[in-house]
Amino acid sequence: MNAAATGLLDADRTSERIKALGPWFHNMNLNGVWTAPDHPLGDYPAMKWRRFADAIPADLSGKSVLDIGCNGGFYSIEMKRRGAAHVVGIDHDPDYLAQARFAADVLGFEIEFHQLSVYDVAQLGERFDVVIFMGVLYHLRHPLLALDLIRAHAAADMLVFQSMQRGSSDVAEFADDYPFTETGIFDRPEYPKLHFIEKRYAHDPTNWFVPNRGAAEAMLRSAGFAIEAHPEEEVYICRCGPQPEDGAVYPPRGTAR
Ligand SMILES: C[S@@+](CC[C@H](N)C(=O)[O-])C[C@H]1O[C@@H](n2cnc3c(N)ncnc32)[C@H](O)[C@@H]1O
Repeated sequence: MNAAATGLLDADRTSERIKALGPWFHNMNLNGVWTAPDHPLGDYPAMKWRRFADAIPADLSGKSVLDIGCNGGFYSIEMKRRGAAHVVGIDHDPDYLAQARFAADVLGFEIEFHQLSVYDVAQLGERFDVVIFMGVLYHLRHPLLALDLIRAHAAADMLVFQSMQRGSSDVAEFADDYPFTETGIFDRPEYPKLHFIEKRYAHDPTNWFVPNRGAAEAMLRSAGFAIEAHPEEEVYICRCGPQPEDGAVYPPRGTAR
């Protein structure tokens, strides 16, 4: 039985624990206490979730969900609220996982949380009906590898993807191939571009590669995901398509479970 149900945590004690586990990126109401009431983005991520929540099945009964980069557990918890049978959240940061475990415990949801990098997703040895990969891509030094690994080892059907985007939000059709002498296309703002950040962006040294819209969509396709819906400017609902033959190069073929 969870802490809230057993009455072990009153609002004062909840408040103390929230403070001790902070700072929080996910604003959630636990026992009447908000975890990140002064979030610079407002009531985050609830305000983002409201903009694409209808694009995900309202009833996830019997479904399995993997939330990669789960942070404080907001999306894992929302998937449980929709009845998902089995929810696993992974993050490489133990402090965020402690928040997620506490939040799930207070709200009475059974969710598995593991300290695991997206690069090691094969270690779960399981494919999930829904994979959530929100807000992580631009924090990675090897973003396409991460998408390849998710496609190769973790995704069974639906991918819910979000990335910060910068540069052009226009998309254009490009040919499958161009002659070596064609150089002008690379100057077109809507050509798929992954901006490399050598030092930091928004004071954050963990921002590495930020795609424009064309690159976000091209990378999803290249990793073997078919874009089914684009319900919010940064969010894509994808389905697994055919796996690319030259997909993930790490771990070396044959060594993954
Ligand atoms: C901007 S937050 C996004 C949190 C949440 N998914 C959301 O959309 O609100 C990025 C999260 O990704 C996690 N993260 C960054 N690199 C990771 C990696 N290599 N493997 C797993 N998680 C990672 C961070 O610890 C952090 O919790």
